[in-house]
Amino acid sequence: SLVHKLRGLIPLEVYLAEKMGLDRVHIVPGDIDQDPKVLKELGKLAGRFIRDVVQDDWVIAVTGGTTMSEVAHHIPPMVPGKNRVLVVPARGGLGEQVEIQANTIAAGIAQRLGASYRLLHVPDNLHGDKMENLLTDVRVQEIISLNKGANLLIHGIGVPEEMAQRRGIDWQEFLRQAPRLPVGEAFGYYFAEDGSVVGVTPTVGPKLEDLVKLNMVMAVAGGKSKAQAIMAVVKRGFIDVLITDQGAAEAMQQRL
Ligand code: BG6
Repeated sequence: SLVHKLRGLIPLEVYLAEKMGLDRVHIVPGDIDQDPKVLKELGKLAGRFIRDVVQDDWVIAVTGGTTMSEVAHHIPPMVPGKNRVLVVPARGGLGEQVEIQANTIAAGIAQRLGASYRLLHVPDNLHGDKMENLLTDVRVQEIISLNKGANLLIHGIGVPEEMAQRRGIDWQEFLRQAPRLPVGEAFGYYFAEDGSVVGVTPTVGPKLEDLVKLNMVMAVAGGKSKAQAIMAVVKRGFIDVLITDQGAAEAMQQRL
């Protein structure tokens, strides 16, 4: 049964949390790479975690991606009595499908929780002057400061080459400019195996230095193919809680 499978994974959760310096690790049975249904279970587990920790007046910040979209779809309805919860996107719009953009996911999670939401109606990936201009807008600044004070930030983790493709970045050119091989991605930051930043794509969302200051950062990512990416981002040190699957968890165990 699922309960038995979950129980069997507890020692691995404890082991990974200790070895990787995380407060908590939660693992769902299976591997997303082998069985897409596991992604739904990952979303459910993350959703339950959110429902259980959220408190009155909390601000929850969220990124986009297919994993976060699953969280939004499977989050259980809010336990009654939690008031004035606000969900905000941690990224602006990207040239991705609308279903997996941070704005859509923030609205989806808010609806499920009976919370309010705010949106970041701006493109996420502008360069130079254009980005600086955007950041002078008070409405943008407001969402950014809400992000900086978020009680809970939830994000996905990506495999760099795939994320570069999704964002229309020339991967070969990106590799040439990176001082070391990027193996993990989160928030538009690209990390090498030791957690150092080796590339950045512009974002209106919170900066790395903002993330470190947050109380509770939760990453949701699974699949054996993401093991190395998860480890690199965790090495950076801003993640507190990791929700993953057995495929990624066992592959990480082997690499530790
Ligand atoms: C993006 C997040 O939207 O989703 C990234 O900003 C993350 O931090 C990515 O790497 C993961 O996407 P997916 O589809 O693999 O869940």
